Amino acid sequence: MRELNEIKNDLDSGSRELIKLLKKRLDCAAELMEYKKAYGLPLFSQEEDLCYESLYNDIKDHVYEEELRKIFKHVGKAEKAVQGKSLFHSNIALIGFMGTGKSTVSKYLRDMLAMKEADTDSMIVQEQQMEIKDIFAQYGEEYFRNCESNAIISLQNCRRTIISCGGGAVIRDENVKNLKKSSRIVLLTASPETILERVRYSDERPILNGNMNVEFIKGLIDKRAAYYERAADITVETDCKSVQQICEELVASLIRFEAEAENERERK
Ligand code: S3P
Repeated sequence: MRELNEIKNDLDSGSRELIKLLKKRLDCAAELMEYKKAYGLPLFSQEEDLCYESLYNDIKDHVYEEELRKIFKHVGKAEKAVQGKSLFHSNIALIGFMGTGKSTVSKYLRDMLAMKEADTDSMIVQEQQMEIKDIFAQYGEEYFRNCESNAIISLQNCRRTIISCGGGAVIRDENVKNLKKSSRIVLLTASPETILERVRYSDERPILNGNMNVEFIKGLIDKRAAYYERAADITVETDCKSVQQICEELVASLIRFEAEAENERERK
């Protein structure tokens, strides 16, 4: 058996080598993102996920296969975080009418960009220990809107978080002002027909209960449209698109928005 000191030295130098290699790996991941951004290439390709599969083939049946797979899963996550960081530094606030897909898009973006996730409705439910429809029924809409404004204020110090806002959040100007302090605002849209399809079997939205029809949804969208449009930095239509398509379009469009904002700053 080898001497204890020798084993410890090897462990130590192994860690140092590993750190060096991981730094190189993460630098490359960030560089790849910059390259794709600069040349307008698709940012997240399936090809790269397949690389991991071929890597896993190399370690198949190895005595440490399970451990090595776990390590690489974390490396993959760290890589996404590095790439996400190089793309966006601010939060991404998702706004839009009920049923435009904010929660679904939020989860997908969280994984795609290794960002954190917050949802104003869930925060209110947790804080009040009551469902939204019960808050409306017991205390009224104004009380709910105050909770919503407080939830948005409390998110101001978050970093790299996807903030999914309730559909009526941007009706109050103060909410938009507070969101804009730390977030880019993305408006998701869908036709009244698509919205009805997505929400018709839920009774969680008090504003729609008893109003589950295209006419009501269309009327309320029309009333709110100016608020949504005024608040939005970018808009993404969600009809007939997969969540992956929506998120890729969203990211590409936000990158363009950031680049334009950067140019604008330089011109001033
Ligand atoms: C509302 C939308 C809901 C929720 C509440 C009020 C609205 O959130 O905040 O029922 O006024 O549009 P979702 O948009 O997530 O359904």
